[in-house]
Amino acid sequence: MTIEEFGHLSSLTTNAVASIGAYQTSKTEQARQDALENATRLVRALEKPADAIYKLFASPAVLMAVKTASDLGIFTQLSQTTSLATCEELAAQKNADIQLVGRFASERGPGHFLDFLPIIHKTPEYLQTSGYRNPGDPKDGPFQHAYQTTGSCWDWLAKNPDALDRFNTFMEGGRDELLHWAHWFPVQEQLLDGAVADRPLLVDVAGGRGHDLAGFKERFPSGPRRLVLEDLPSVIEDIQHLDSDIQRVKHDFFKPQPVKGARAYYFKHIMHDWSDDNCRIILKHTTAAMEKGYSKLLIEDYIVPDQNAGPKETATDMIVMVWCPGIERTRQRWTDLLQSVGLVAKNFWLPHGSNKGIIEAELQEIPRA
Ligand SMILES: C[S@@+](CC[C@H](N)C(=O)[O-])C[C@H]1O[C@@H](n2cnc3c(N)ncnc32)[C@H](O)[C@@H]1O
Repeated sequence: MTIEEFGHLSSLTTNAVASIGAYQTSKTEQARQDALENATRLVRALEKPADAIYKLFASPAVLMAVKTASDLGIFTQLSQTTSLATCEELAAQKNADIQLVGRFASERGPGHFLDFLPIIHKTPEYLQTSGYRNPGDPKDGPFQHAYQTTGSCWDWLAKNPDALDRFNTFMEGGRDELLHWAHWFPVQEQLLDGAVADRPLLVDVAGGRGHDLAGFKERFPSGPRRLVLEDLPSVIEDIQHLDSDIQRVKHDFFKPQPVKGARAYYFKHIMHDWSDDNCRIILKHTTAAMEKGYSKLLIEDYIVPDQNAGPKETATDMIVMVWCPGIERTRQRWTDLLQSVGLVAKNFWLPHGSNKGIIEAELQEIPRA
């Protein structure tokens, strides 16, 4: 290293130490993110190209190890034990070689990622054979190529209850440390003020097993508030615990929206699963149910910055591309999409330090002739 490079390292070290100190004092999520970014910059500066290549080379092996550990039932066993489990105990379930189990036992990871493994492996091959087209068809993409199926990933989940449970559990866990939107979105001003008491307040369209509405109810427990959860039959039937006040509706969002004139239709991590053309079908069914001047559309997803997109939104963009296939969108892309179905984006709400937020839209005024 040159003297200049060492100088650069020491200024990165000073920044990292200072931001860790700031985190220690403020304990805020933003300060933690800043500290992480500064520490990562320092690590990157220390890395040689060979280190970066090695990381890339090694990461598929980590995923393979996580999958094998899951197949061996290691995560389930570890989550059920209250004391240290021995390799003999972990190996017993599959009568596996104790030494082999020892090699895998230290890997941990969220179950749903395991279902990505075959797709990630096969995506480069799929893209090559498709002539590097941007995937957009829910029945013809990397997922179908890897799993040798002609149905969508949602059809596949419905037929694979274990994978469906892994997926729904993953969704319930949240993919980041963000607060539930009801804590930072102006719910009182934008939703509750002006809401008509006996009409549906909030319809969570494709809300999984209802964790988001449960979070909303926890934050706003009082008052007559009709909350409606919609999702595919397989998901609604997979609900084990949910407040009985939350109405459950089996609904396919490619069909007309059955709940009319709600105060808000909320879609979290839905639009990013679909191409613009498919989003337009879903949105047109929603706008047909909305009441002008009263109903709002709330989309919670990434609002990708035009420049310097962060690692979370770029990684999620890859994940939705191979799984659904979907896409993460910039502010302009959201605006254009909404406009194309007669909606106008009123606000882009972003909690401090995050690129994931809520796009609030309403039906456009039709100009008088
Ligand atoms: C990425 S998950 C998001 C779940 C939840 N909104 C969240 O953020 O945790 C996508 C959801 O869309 C649902 N879904 C997929 N296709 C659907 C369809 N045609 N109609 C209704 N829901 C659908 C899935 O069952 C799944 O619950």
